[in-house]
This record gives sequence, C-alpha cells and structure tokens, in this order.
Amino acid sequence: MLLNTPTAHTAPILFVGGKGGVGKTTVAAARALALADAGHRVLLMSTDPAHSLGDVLEHPLGDRPVRVAPGLWAAEPDADTAVRRRIAQVVRDAERALPAEIMPAVRRHLDHAGAAPGMAESALADLLMERMEEVGDRWDRLVVDSAPTGHLLRLLALPTLLTPWVTGLTRRRERARKAEAFADAVVAEPEEDPLLARLHERRHRLEGAAARLRSASRVGLVTVPRRMVLAETARALDSLTEAGFPLDTVIVNQIPPPGAVGPDGTAVLAEIRRRFAHVGVTEVPLADREPTGPSGLRALAAHLPG
Ligand SMILES: Nc1ncnc2c1ncn2[C@@H]1O[C@H](COP(=O)(O)OP(=O)(O)O)[C@@H](O)[C@H]1O
Ligand SMILES: [Mg+2]
Repeated sequence: MLLNTPTAHTAPILFVGGKGGVGKTTVAAARALALADAGHRVLLMSTDPAHSLGDVLEHPLGDRPVRVAPGLWAAEPDADTAVRRRIAQVVRDAERALPAEIMPAVRRHLDHAGAAPGMAESALADLLMERMEEVGDRWDRLVVDSAPTGHLLRLLALPTLLTPWVTGLTRRRERARKAEAFADAVVAEPEEDPLLARLHERRHRLEGAAARLRSASRVGLVTVPRRMVLAETARALDSLTEAGFPLDTVIVNQIPPPGAVGPDGTAVLAEIRRRFAHVGVTEVPLADREPTGPSGLRALAAHLPG
C-alpha cells in the first residue's frame, strides 16, 4: 500500500523520474492511461527535451495537448519553440518599457541569452507551470514524464530558487520607477509599467508552483534491478526527501523472469525492497516486447498502483 504521505493517494500531479532508459516515459504513459481509464481527465506532458512520449503512445504529439485516448491528452512541447516564445515576450515587454534606441542592444543580448545553458529547461518549466495551474479545472490529473534525474531535481527546485530572485528584480524595478517619477516631477497617475506587471505575474506564478509542488504533487521514481541504478535512485530519493517533496511508490521496472535474474540481480532486488520500503515498492516484469500503444501500456499498467 502507498501510505507514505497524506497526499499519496489524492495528489493530482505526478512526476515520474529516474535514470535514463529505466522506463520513465513508458511508466508515465501507462499510469496516465490507467487514470484516464478510471474516468479522470488526464494530461500527460513531457518535459524531456529529447522526446519519446509520442513513440510510446504511438501518436504524433506537439506543443498543444492532443487527445490520444478517451480522457487522455498528451503534449511534448518543443524546447526551442518554448525559448523563442519566451524571448519574443521579453522583447515585447521591453519595447513598451525601454527607449527605442537601446532596443538593438537588448535584442542582441536576448539572442545570446536564448542560447544560454538552462534556457530550454527554464522555458519548459514555464510551460509546465502553466499546465499545473489548469489542474483542478481543465484536468483532474497531470502526469509529467521528465528528463533524467538531475533535470527533474532542478525542475522541481526552480520555482523556490527563482522566487527571491524575481522578488529582488521587482523591488529594483519599483525603485527605478519611483526615481523616474521623481526626476520627471510627475504628479499625475503613474503609468502602467509592463515590466513590473510581468514581474508580478511571474512571481505569482512561481509562488503558486512552489506551493503546488509540495501540496498537490508527488514524485514517483522508476528504477531497475541494477546496482548503479539503485545507487542513483537512493541519492535522488534522499534529495527529494530533503527538499520536502512527497514521494510516491518506487517502481522497479524491467525485472527479468525468476529463472533469469541471477544472484547479483536477486541481491539488488532484495536491497531495493529493503531500502525503499518506507515509500512503497512496486515491481514490474520485463515484457517480451516493448510496451507501446494502448494495449502494451494497459498490460504494463496492470502491475502499477491504481
Ligand atoms: N517493463 C518493460 N518491459 C520491456 N521493455 C520495457 C519495459 N519498460 C520499458 N521498456 C523499454 O525500455 C526502453 C526505455 O524505456 P523508456 O520509457 O523510453 O525509458 P526512459 O524514459 O526512462 O528513458 C524502451 O525501449 C521501452 O520500450
Ligand atoms: Mg523518457
């Protein structure tokens, strides 16, 4: 049973994490499909810039959620498009708030910023936050197929990390506006400041996401019975616990049939059961063929928690 946290049964948002190749995308798709089969309106979204959700679902996907089965919608937003969209927004805001003569320099700066490391992750995190806000309204459940562990940990930490930074930017902007008003001896109604409005909106969104990540989400790690993968799973679990994220059952995927496990595999499996007992352990056998499409995913889902 999965009674690790009060939210384990009811949390509407599920992040599926783990090392590359363990079966995150497959498990995320199977769980989302099972939730849809149970009558929920489910959005399944990938935040891995290297997408494979469409392949697993055997359905072409894109930026916007498309319906792939009764009750199930899926999206795999393109990271480059997300970055371009975000920069275009910043340019629009800057054009309204800054003198025209400095705009060429601003544009050059933003072109470089768009290529900066972390930009794709951050733009995808933005899209995810938008979707998280729709949960309870447009969607009953959100299942997030994430990129390998490091990315997931950064993604989950982002709202909390960025909130003070955006708060600082907001304060600086407010001070600058006051100074401008003073210099101009403006006594009339202050004009609307699009940058300040955007910063307030961003802070609001980040604070909402940080709260939702702890109150309405859980993280389910997928692992396989191999020692190196187990070590990474244990570290990820510790980091998540330390950061206060509610955990879902650990899924041990791709377990070979009993005769084919071998002594080392048996030992690792025993260790997994022991070490992760406090969050629950769910075991999923290695299927004869790759579980894709509705029937393959439903067969896999039969082993997963309801
Ligand atoms: N239980 C399973 N039995 C057989 N093959 C599986 C199982 N789970 C995943 N696979 C296969 O393992 C490979 C990696 O799965 P995938 O879901 O893409 O992993 P990840 O998203 O963690 O990188 C895929 O070829 C997938 O079909
Ligand atoms: Mg994947």
